[in-house]
Amino acid sequence: MQPHHHFSTSSATAVVRLGEILGALSHALDLTEGQPEGHCVRCCWIGMQVAEVLDLTANQRSDLYFTLLLKDLGCSSNAARICQLYLTDDIEFKRDFKLVDGSARQGLEFLLSHTASQSGLVQRLKAVTNVLKNSNDIVGEVMQTRCDRGAEIARMMRFSEDVAQGIAGLDEHWDGGGRPARLRGEAIPLYSRIALLAQVADVFVTELGVEAAVSELTNRAGTWFDPDLTPVFIEVMRCPGFLEEFNDPGLEAHVFTSEPAHTGRVVDEQYLDEIASAFAQVIDAKSPFTHGHSERVAQYTDSICAEMGYSTEKRRWMARAALLHDIGKLGVSNTILDKPGKLTDAEFDLIKLHPAMSHEILSRVSVFQDMALTAAAHHERLDGKGYPNGMSADQLTQDMRILSVADIFDALTADRPYRPAMPLEKAYAIMDDMVGCAIDIECYAALQNAIANS
Ligand SMILES: [Fe+2]
Ligand SMILES: [Fe+2]
Repeated sequence: MQPHHHFSTSSATAVVRLGEILGALSHALDLTEGQPEGHCVRCCWIGMQVAEVLDLTANQRSDLYFTLLLKDLGCSSNAARICQLYLTDDIEFKRDFKLVDGSARQGLEFLLSHTASQSGLVQRLKAVTNVLKNSNDIVGEVMQTRCDRGAEIARMMRFSEDVAQGIAGLDEHWDGGGRPARLRGEAIPLYSRIALLAQVADVFVTELGVEAAVSELTNRAGTWFDPDLTPVFIEVMRCPGFLEEFNDPGLEAHVFTSEPAHTGRVVDEQYLDEIASAFAQVIDAKSPFTHGHSERVAQYTDSICAEMGYSTEKRRWMARAALLHDIGKLGVSNTILDKPGKLTDAEFDLIKLHPAMSHEILSRVSVFQDMALTAAAHHERLDGKGYPNGMSADQLTQDMRILSVADIFDALTADRPYRPAMPLEKAYAIMDDMVGCAIDIECYAALQNAIANS
């Protein structure tokens, strides 16, 4: 194996790369999984070095690359359920679960320490008893949802069946003790076996260093991991310079520019729309109360834009901003998103972070960069009392004002955790009062016209 070199960061290119788009969006998946920033990208980097040692074909490398970047696509679909079943913070739960070694003892300790840890004793006992009694069904259900949804979304983004199956098999273990299908040995797709190893390798290297990761991989070889692949990972991790590159800020750019060549996959406008729609589903799956929200906000946004005479091209751009405006919500715990009662100030402060996180994620994608500002301003208000930046009216562009009207309209007319959907007249009555202080009068009028004519 070649010794490692530091990455040059001067490889900027004008080409729209699928790897860059999906790699940047994978940061949203890291947030949901409670993983340190860049987890999926680092998994991809480690796994691709293994692909080199294994001498995989160009097609296999391309499929593996996207399996690794997108392994957590289904992550948001079980967050609400984890929160409900274990009465706990889904993000913390998911993060700590990845450090459990798979032994029954550690599994039980994990369960006891993570189930309803913030609740009263009676509620906690009930939750623990339920989880212990139905442990098999519950773990199975939570894992199944994640795998099925992840595979489904990969297919929506035009990935091959091998990528979809690779994502679906992420939680299968070599000895047949994994989920959801209890596949065993080589019946587990190769990409899943590599992705699981890469995932554990990254988590342990990040938290505890290379040697801790090596012993973790060694301990689980033959139970969790493919015993033939494990030594390849260890060889890669022990290669001189591994840790320097692992921690190199240029690693991400390196992963994006080293996307394996593939045939026939051009990132055109249509494909970008499909990717945005697929990610909108990941976002909306996070909470039962945001089901379909991003899709509907995109529809309202498009109707307002049509009403206001926007060009087809610009409408397309706006719809994408709308589809992705809440991507930062993937980083907010379901204990807050799904809370039925009033939020505390501290909880509301956490909610308020989501547009800034949307900005941070979207601005990583060069083709989404200017869209990121519009998307992140959807909770700003004309009177400067919005969040996260308290922008003033003269800073709020028409695009931002449109998105904000569409978002508020859907928030009012869809079911929420704390109240059922509101009839149109009532929503309008509330929005009438917001004109001038929160929302723009022309954009609001355009929405009303669009709804009346639909
Ligand atoms: Fe939002
Ligand atoms: Fe929203």
